Amino acid sequence: MASTTSPRPISAAHRVAPLRAGKGYSFLLRRLHSLSGIIPIGFFLIEHFVSNAFATRGPGAYTKQVELLTGFPFVVGLELFGIWLPILYHSLYGFYIWYRGDSNVGDYPWTGNWMYTAQRWTGAIAFFYMAWHTWHLRFSGVHLLTHPASAFGKVQLEFQHPWAVAFYAVGILCASWHFAYGLWLFAAKWGITTGDRARRRFGYVCFAIGLLFVLVGAVTMRAFLKTPLQPLEPFDSGPKSFVMR
Ligand code: HEM
Repeated sequence: MASTTSPRPISAAHRVAPLRAGKGYSFLLRRLHSLSGIIPIGFFLIEHFVSNAFATRGPGAYTKQVELLTGFPFVVGLELFGIWLPILYHSLYGFYIWYRGDSNVGDYPWTGNWMYTAQRWTGAIAFFYMAWHTWHLRFSGVHLLTHPASAFGKVQLEFQHPWAVAFYAVGILCASWHFAYGLWLFAAKWGITTGDRARRRFGYVCFAIGLLFVLVGAVTMRAFLKTPLQPLEPFDSGPKSFVMR
């Protein structure tokens, strides 16, 4: 027999505006911003945390993982189209949404909308962290695509500066928070979680995911800090670039 009860209404406190049609390009760009936070950026974030966690199994295991990643065919194309351009789009459009103050003040549930503010600030801090991190590990010093065995030592070299260790910790915290709450927002906006109960329950799941990311990040950092300094391979940009300890 068909049930006559209608689904529980969503209280005003838990309302998140769905992404609606009929707003022309901005609708499309907004959808793309939302989707890009999960595919590919969220997937990349998971891969990045898992790959770096190989550091907990020692420099040898970490090198193998870096070799696997850097050994992919068309690796620079994969980086460009799978990581850098999507992150650039999501970030720049994220800043634009923030600047516009678009909607959402009424859409974010809980605690006087500080989640709304936190989503923006964690995104902004993650942006500057990623720019700094990518510049140091990908574009300066020993080139890891050609010297993957130097990856462990290169991260350790970064960790010689206490402020860099602090910045890594802040970056991990911000990326974890932003992604975890982003998952919750995504599910609400795309109609995956409907109703108060589903959203509340998924909120706990997202909180656990965020904590897991922070935990994995913390044990990974500890592995780099606790392992004796690893030598870098010699590389070819001048005599000062040769670092052996
Ligand atoms: C670590 C890299 C990042 C990941 C994994 C990520 C992921 C996500 C996800 C999954 C969402 C939810 C999508 C939605 O609202 O439907 C989101 C929202 C958002 N992201 Fe990011 N993001 C990242 C970096 C950034 C950066 C650098 C900015 C720059 C400010 C940013 C700004 C925003 C903003 C403003 C929202 C909220 C949009 C809204 O309320 O409608 N994100 N992000």
